[in-house]
Parts: sequence; structure tokens; C-alpha cells
Amino acid sequence: MEIRFRDTPVDRIKTELVVIPVHDKWLDDPVIRVLDRRLKGHLRAHMSKSNFTGAEGSTLLHPTAGMLPASYLLLVGIGAGETSGDTWRKAGAKARKEAGAIGADEFALLFAPEKNPESAAAAIVEGAMLASYQFIKYRSNGKPVRELKSLTLFRSGLKKTAALQTALDTAQTTAPGVFLARDLVNEPPSVATAKFLGSQAQRACQGRGLTVEVWNKKKIEAMKLAGLLAVNRGSLEEPRFIRIHYRPTGKARKRVALIGKGITFDSGGLSLKPSKSMETMKLDMAGGAAVIATMSCLPKLDLDLEVTGYVPTTDNLPGHNAQKPGDVIRYLNGKTIEVLNTDAEGRLILADALALAAQQKPDYMINLATLTGACMTALGTQVGGVFSNHQPLADSLLRCSQEAGEKLWQLPLVKEYKDLIKSSVADMKNIGGAHGGAITAALILQEFVGDIAWAHLDIAGPAFAESDNLLCPKGGTGFGVRTLVNFLMSL
Ligand code: BES
Ligand code: MN
Ligand code: ZN
Repeated sequence: MEIRFRDTPVDRIKTELVVIPVHDKWLDDPVIRVLDRRLKGHLRAHMSKSNFTGAEGSTLLHPTAGMLPASYLLLVGIGAGETSGDTWRKAGAKARKEAGAIGADEFALLFAPEKNPESAAAAIVEGAMLASYQFIKYRSNGKPVRELKSLTLFRSGLKKTAALQTALDTAQTTAPGVFLARDLVNEPPSVATAKFLGSQAQRACQGRGLTVEVWNKKKIEAMKLAGLLAVNRGSLEEPRFIRIHYRPTGKARKRVALIGKGITFDSGGLSLKPSKSMETMKLDMAGGAAVIATMSCLPKLDLDLEVTGYVPTTDNLPGHNAQKPGDVIRYLNGKTIEVLNTDAEGRLILADALALAAQQKPDYMINLATLTGACMTALGTQVGGVFSNHQPLADSLLRCSQEAGEKLWQLPLVKEYKDLIKSSVADMKNIGGAHGGAITAALILQEFVGDIAWAHLDIAGPAFAESDNLLCPKGGTGFGVRTLVNFLMSL
């Protein structure tokens, strides 16, 4: 998609679809006045007849009947008060959908944000791109949406600055990353095996500075990744451990480890889930998918950071050799976990990866995991939980997620709850009590990070959309990619 900047007044822009953001109840909007005059009063008449006032999310499509160089006008309500990144993202998405509906492969948007032009422009482009995602390879009648050839931002006096261009380049780099993460989650679980995930990481993570290692079972045994091996015991598929490394061209200012849960299907193991709860359990590698996708963006972002991605991956099945409640896992850092519920498997495979990553002493470790139903109960399907042993890191992730249009909320690591994970035979057990399940899971992970600044993102809710929405159809959302990219850029 080509992005253009034009210094053109609103009644002169020549394109199929002109998009005009409209503030709610700003009836004297000079832009509307100019357009209405050219349209001989038909625009105002249409607005009042359809009760369009500019409420956030509302739209009005108006054919110009040859009275303007553009074929259609689309008014997009941006609400009253200050416009946020979310508002612009949704406006970009609405414009993209409407362009598709009228068969246009381009649109031009009147670009006049009150402030933060860079983040507004990036959000518009991001919205336009994200809204076009489809996963139709398994549909016999699936038609790909018409590609958007160009998106023009215009206003009289608009100047293209270097900062604007950088913001747009980042948005155009991140969107394909989000799509990759969505694709990996949406793929059926018998296709998206651990081996598949490894080969997709190798395919996607190419370019300057990136290297990918995919460890097979033998190597995983040699590296003593006991948690991954224990969870994999019930499966016929071999596990994989994916390690992706990014080395910048110059000296690295900071070193970051990103760790993602890669359970390709979570049946619960011998502690079997009921069938309803299994329906979406191909989503259980969404954390790993977000890490692979973020790593794949790095060559284009050109940051002076060293970043390592770790994705332990297997399915969790109750095969005849499956691990049993009561089994004990001994980890490479010496710690032991008694497995009382084989459905609490994410923490078992993340423990290996966190311990391994911690050996490198990075400045920050961030893990993403669809870890607990409890987190979804607490925060719902739109918000991820953040746990951290380092408040500045948590603050930074909260800020970066908000800018990126992904919702995170901090939850506490309650020391006192460590009593709940005490085991009678091992250092700890893998489940807590009846309450606070997201917290006890996080406390188990914390045992494996040592004193490194670490954050755990529990994305069980937002990793998967239960129904279609403006920026994402039902299925994998790619949650986390935009936050991670934003975070890395902020360091
Ligand atoms: N993958 C699930 C968590 C999950 C549930 C993600 C729903 C997305 C939607 C995880 O492995 C799991 O099964 N957790 C258990 C833990 C329990 C056994 C302590 C849970 O949340 O019920
Ligand atoms: Mn589970
Ligand atoms: Zn799981």
C-alpha cells in the first residue's frame, strides 16, 4: 500500500472516496460548510435526515453526484473532546471497510489532528491495514478483500516530515507482524504443530541481524528442558524449542528477552478439559506467536537492542505416556515442581524458558502467555494482565500498550499467596487454591526469573476474539505484537 501526503484543499482532492473526520455536534465545522456549499445543501440535509452528528464510531456515506472531484464522501464521527489513538485507528478501519464496500482501492483522509500528528497518522494507517485481515484459506468460497492501493493524507498546507514518515513506516512494519501472529493462531491445531511453528519461525524471521535455532527433542533433552519434556510426554508430536536472536548492526544499548507460551493445543492432558473449553484451545500458542511475529519485525525497525525470543512449544495431550498428577519435575536451575493438575501446563514449559533466558542476564525479560482462565475472569476478554517484579518496567509496558491500542492492567504479585503453592514433596506445586489463580500462576513463573527485571503478560482474554470486530475478525488477534514493538522502540 502506498501512502501519500498531499497539500490539497478538501474540495479539490480527486479520489474515489474522501474521508472527513467530524467532531460530535460541531455544527459549524468550516469543512462541512465548504463541502455543503459545493454539494448544494445536500450534505447537511443528508446529515440531519440520518441524524449524523459526529458521534464516535458513526459514519455517513454521501455520493457527490459529480459536484466534487471525489465520487464519495465518508463522514466519520470522532466524538466530542480529545481524539485518542484509538479514535484514529477506528477511523482508519471504518474508511478501509467503506472503501471496500464501494469497490474503491484508494481513499484520501482529511488529516487535521489537534495534536500528536505522528501517532494519529500511524494509528489511521494501522487501522486501515488491520481491518483488512482475513483468514480464508480453508473456505471453498473465500474471496480475498480488494487490496487498498493507496491511502492519502491531505490538508491544505500539509507537510511531510521525517517524524511522520518514520511513524508510518513503523505502522507498515508492525501490521504484517500482527497478521503473522493471527495466522499462526488461526491455523488448525493439527497443522500448527510444534514442528510447524519452528519452520514458520525460520521462514518469517529472516533479514539482517536475525538468526533462528529450532531445537528438536534430542537437543531439548541435552539442554535439560524438563518442563517441556514432561508436558510433551502425552503427545505423538515431538516438541520444539525455538530461539530467535537479533543482533543490531552497531553496539547494543540494552538486552531484552521475549518468552512466549507455545502450547499448540491444550486438551488439559490427563486433567482433561471439558469439550466446550477445548474448542478454542488452538489459541494456546498465541504468546509464542506474538514473540515470533515481533522478532520478525526487528530487521526493519533497526533498533540498537539485542533481543532474544524463546518459544517452548508442544501440544498438551493425554496420550498413554502422559505425565500424571503427582509427578515431579526437576528444572535446570535445581528447582522442583509437583504437577497436581496437568492442565496447568503453561507455567511448566515457561519455567524452562525463563530459567534459560535468565542465564544470559538480560536487562529485561518479558513473557507472554495465555496462562489462566482466572485472568480472563478478572479482566474480561479485552484486557491482558501484567505482573512484574520491577515497577518501572510495568509502567512502561502499560504506557506502550495504551499507545498501541492494546489494553493491559496491572495485577499484584501477592507474596502471601506463595503459601498456596507449597507442596508436600517438592519446592512448589503447579496449582494454587480456589481463588487468585492468575496470581498464583504468576508467582510460580517468578521463581524462575531470579533478580532480573521481568514482566509477565497473561493474555488469555485478548489473544482470541470471540466475535468479529472492526479491527479483527473472530479468531487470533495478534495481541501483544504492537505493545512489544512499541516497548522495544521506547527503550
Ligand atoms: N490455556 C489455559 C488457560 C486459558 C483458558 C487460556 C481459557 C485461554 C482461555 C491454561 O493452560 C489452563 O488450562 N489453565 C488452567 C489452570 C488451572 C488448572 C490451575 C485454568 O485457567 O483453568
Ligand atoms: Mn491448560
Ligand atoms: Zn494452556
